[in-house]
Amino acid sequence: MLFRAENLDQHYGSAQVLRGVGFAIAPGECMAILGRNGAGKTTLLKCLMGILPTSDGRVLVDDKDITGWSSHRRSAAGLAYVPQGREIFSELTVGENIQAAARAHGTLGTELMDETLSLFPVLKQMWRRPGGALSGGQQQQLAIARALVTKPSLLILDEPTEGIQPNIVAAIKDVLAALKGKISLLLVEQYVDFAMSLADSIVILSRGTVIESVRAEATSREHLSRHIAV
Ligand SMILES: Nc1ncnc2c1ncn2[C@@H]1O[C@H](COP(=O)(O)OP(=O)(O)O)[C@@H](O)[C@H]1O
Ligand SMILES: [Mg+2]
Repeated sequence: MLFRAENLDQHYGSAQVLRGVGFAIAPGECMAILGRNGAGKTTLLKCLMGILPTSDGRVLVDDKDITGWSSHRRSAAGLAYVPQGREIFSELTVGENIQAAARAHGTLGTELMDETLSLFPVLKQMWRRPGGALSGGQQQQLAIARALVTKPSLLILDEPTEGIQPNIVAAIKDVLAALKGKISLLLVEQYVDFAMSLADSIVILSRGTVIESVRAEATSREHLSRHIAV
């Protein structure tokens, strides 16, 4: 999927949070969005998913304008979203969380379910446990698995490493690295190293505006850190 955002504006009431945001993600590539707390990263992702309305600009999938589409329709068209803070169903079991997503997308019992679970062995072990009983890192893995069983062409992740223990961060990185090339990834991160280890292109968002847009090989960790230092 070729995914593009053009000139997006967003307002919360009278406060303008996004200003003219634009970028493109080539098929199979990973784009990372870096930026400080409050820069507008989560707001941007919600606009891309149709959870929040934009006040101007366009969102395009393979040159099709999806700007007016509902989040449900975007999800059916191949966008999947792992929100900041994960938002899994804590009362439902791990299995039920995954099955509910798969059922809604017609992938229940397909090979995609097995493939996805093989990426996250811990979820098979925890299959009958309530989602709320998992560690933060395990919940993040569950949220990613739940997104993957919807068969996305673009997986959007909002700070997947936030507050997660290092060994699970490494496991998540391996999964995302293996997905790259097969599907596109849009990764919002505050950790430059994690972003640099996966991204083909990098966008820095500051006060709702893209202040830098570069190929990963054309920039450095030091340069990026200086721009986003909290
Ligand atoms: N529901 C909301 N209503 C009003 N302002 C909001 C809301 N959510 C976020 N904001 C404001 O929008 C700005 C961007 O927030 P956010 O998109 O969460 O940034 P980030 O994800 O980069 O930390 C912040 O100034 C935040 O206070
Ligand atoms: Mg955020």
